[in-house]
Amino acid sequence: MMIPEKMKAIVAPEPGGPEQLQFTELPVPQPAADELLVKVQATALNRADILQRQGKYPPPKGASPVLGLEIAGVVEQVGHNCSGWRRGDRVCALLPGGGYARYAIVPAGMAIPIPDSLSPEEAAAAPEVFLTAYQTLYQLGRIRNGDVVLIHAGASGVGAAAIQLVRFAGATSIITAGTAKKLDFCLKLGAGVAINYRDGEFASHVLKATNNNGVQIILDCVGAAFWGQNMQCLAMDGRLILIAVMSGYKVSEANLATILRKRLSIIGSTLRGRSPEYKQNLTREFVKDILPGFQDGRLKPTIDSVFSWKEVAEAHRRMENRENMGKIVLTID
Ligand SMILES: NC(=O)c1ccc[n+]([C@@H]2O[C@H](COP(=O)([O-])OP(=O)(O)OC[C@H]3O[C@@H](n4cnc5c(N)ncnc54)[C@H](OP(=O)(O)O)[C@@H]3O)[C@@H](O)[C@H]2O)c1
Repeated sequence: MMIPEKMKAIVAPEPGGPEQLQFTELPVPQPAADELLVKVQATALNRADILQRQGKYPPPKGASPVLGLEIAGVVEQVGHNCSGWRRGDRVCALLPGGGYARYAIVPAGMAIPIPDSLSPEEAAAAPEVFLTAYQTLYQLGRIRNGDVVLIHAGASGVGAAAIQLVRFAGATSIITAGTAKKLDFCLKLGAGVAINYRDGEFASHVLKATNNNGVQIILDCVGAAFWGQNMQCLAMDGRLILIAVMSGYKVSEANLATILRKRLSIIGSTLRGRSPEYKQNLTREFVKDILPGFQDGRLKPTIDSVFSWKEVAEAHRRMENRENMGKIVLTID
């Protein structure tokens, strides 16, 4: 099959609501020596796509203006310095942008082979949230067998991946979420305890569930609204890993004595802006440590819903309305 010169892709030329999303025609990108050209079969939504569409999260320097941080598809062309990949290989990958498109460029070091058991839709739902959960829990959080981890937004894409990776590490998760349906979803995925944060404060439940010891790690994307309770919930030497500030970024009160007394670590991280070398290294470690779990079925991407990319505005509305549990996938049909 000839590779066409032009392809369809989705952009949001003006900041705004889902109605700003539109198809455009762009040249099919050319792979450099160390890159693969992938024909995209599916991509998936991330909160960052909503923020990017709203004009609040511009793509990093040099990244495509096309939305989309992850894809699954088939290798169409192999740069001459890429060893180990062939035309026709099934791959998925994290991208700095450019996923809502018929073709995408993937640096060979970022490509993850898709296990036979996973469909393109499942594979597209994995890279961003599982790499984020792996990086934060394993590399930054140094999770260990027997730890207890508090995961906020447990039913989010990242939360659903984190619940599985906590269990994969032999640890236990406590999650918070905002509806009874979401609590149930998280318990079925393997969370040990699920707390509805809308019913009142969560810290007392966390302390009760841990015999007042607290948790070793908190994976937090909520930020300011949960800061005080997070400090209460952390055990000695606990780690708060902050990956977003959805409720706000300013806290009016912070008791530094708690941080001192409990020897806490407060770690902030954003994956998208990391260097290509960092991301390739992370991908390599992920393939070694985590991919076997997908191959033997202990881990599974959690799909909330699948939309055609022609229905991208509908898919964005679903995420914005906080209706999804796990990942929303777009098929590039
Ligand atoms: N730093 C990084 O490297 C990194 C990487 C990936 C993702 N992230 C961040 O991780 C978070 C989860 O991403 P995702 O794509 O998995 O999200 P998602 O599937 O859209 O889930 C987000 C969920 O967060 C909960 N939530 C709690 N407080 C909220 C608030 N103030 N506003 C909106 N939602 C709130 C909502 O569920 P409830 O009904 O339970 O409230 C919502 O459904 C996002 O904030 C994202 O930006 C960070």
